Amino acid sequence: MRRALFHAERALGATVPNPMVGAVVVDRAGVVVGQGFHERAGQPHAEVVALDAAGPRAHGATLYVTLEPCCHVGRTGPCTKRILAAGISRVVAATLDPFPRVSGQGVRELREAGVVVEIGLEEAAARRLNAAYLMVQERQRPFVVLKAATTRDGRIAAMRDQPTAISGAAAARRTQRLRASVDGIAVGAGTVCADDPRLTARDVVRARPLTRVVFDRALVTSPRARVYDSAAGGPAIVVADPAAMVAYPERVERFAQAGADVVPAATPDAAVRALLARGVHTLLVEGGAALHRSFWEAELVDRLHLIVAPARLGGAAVPLFDGLAVPWSRLSRVTSVPCGPDMWMDADVHWDR
Ligand SMILES: NC(=O)c1ccc[n+]([C@@H]2O[C@H](COP(=O)([O-])OP(=O)(O)OC[C@H]3O[C@@H](n4cnc5c(N)ncnc54)[C@H](OP(=O)(O)O)[C@@H]3O)[C@@H](O)[C@H]2O)c1
Repeated sequence: MRRALFHAERALGATVPNPMVGAVVVDRAGVVVGQGFHERAGQPHAEVVALDAAGPRAHGATLYVTLEPCCHVGRTGPCTKRILAAGISRVVAATLDPFPRVSGQGVRELREAGVVVEIGLEEAAARRLNAAYLMVQERQRPFVVLKAATTRDGRIAAMRDQPTAISGAAAARRTQRLRASVDGIAVGAGTVCADDPRLTARDVVRARPLTRVVFDRALVTSPRARVYDSAAGGPAIVVADPAAMVAYPERVERFAQAGADVVPAATPDAAVRALLARGVHTLLVEGGAALHRSFWEAELVDRLHLIVAPARLGGAAVPLFDGLAVPWSRLSRVTSVPCGPDMWMDADVHWDR
């Protein structure tokens, strides 16, 4: 199953709206006779790739797969039929697929046909890998990742309206890889005014366009800011207060002329659901302090990446969550690795739901 998970992850960022799935076929002698993964939506499912590779050696073999096999016709055919046709005698799936047209029915169909089915091997790892897919299926909202560079005293900038270099070159490269794996990047209006970021994924391979999002309630950012330059690789969206859109139609028009779509949303929750409707299944929030706080207070942060630099900026500088106490008790699976002169810390965030 770990090998199947390894294969699944090879398609990181490329399968949306589908999950990442890997599969391995092991014959009765314990020999791997086929393996593969789902490369992107519309391409064959992992089970089919692995079974094709195995050919007749799949007869009587065990199929390890990171997600319950599908039993419906989508853009490709049902995997359950293909598994039965190949003569697989046992299927081990890491976790069930909550997608309503599968959701336990894939397992039932295989069992009714006499295949032994086991569920739950490496389930936590499989659910973590497909956290965004599961979030969309189970809670109908995108998976939200918050990333920030902070000093040792938890500051993200020296002053609100000025850019401050905090992390080093190694963290910048790793940030580009993180950006390559998500569907959208969001910042607040303050960050656009202070830093004028492009929010593109550079020097990395990206399979799909990247949506750039600015939370700009009152439409105060300049339509000439670099983020609205759509030629750079994906749509640009401004999330605005519906009342501001009515009050300032000329501002809405200027953004439209700059190629940006203005989307009305009064709360972060409404905003992320509107972004999901535009294909953003994983949203990376990249600052600043006010937007961090607002997402945190809305309980919309699911994973946290903190780059901690060996510097201090002092109490007058801009704090990570805009004055909110850092809620460490909400974090689990905390890991931290050196990244050039900085530490790169990852954590999952848990809310009491
Ligand atoms: N170190 C890092 O990783 C990092 C990353 C990014 C930015 N920064 C730094 O952070 C500073 C900017 O932070 P900031 O707090 O001033 O600005 P910000 O969080 O980038 O933007 C805040 C602005 O966004 C608007 N906004 C729209 N929707 C919002 C919502 N749902 N929640 C909160 N705000 C919303 C606010 O509008 P209203 O005025 O109507 O409230 C406010 O004007 C800059 O100095 C920048 O360099 C550091």
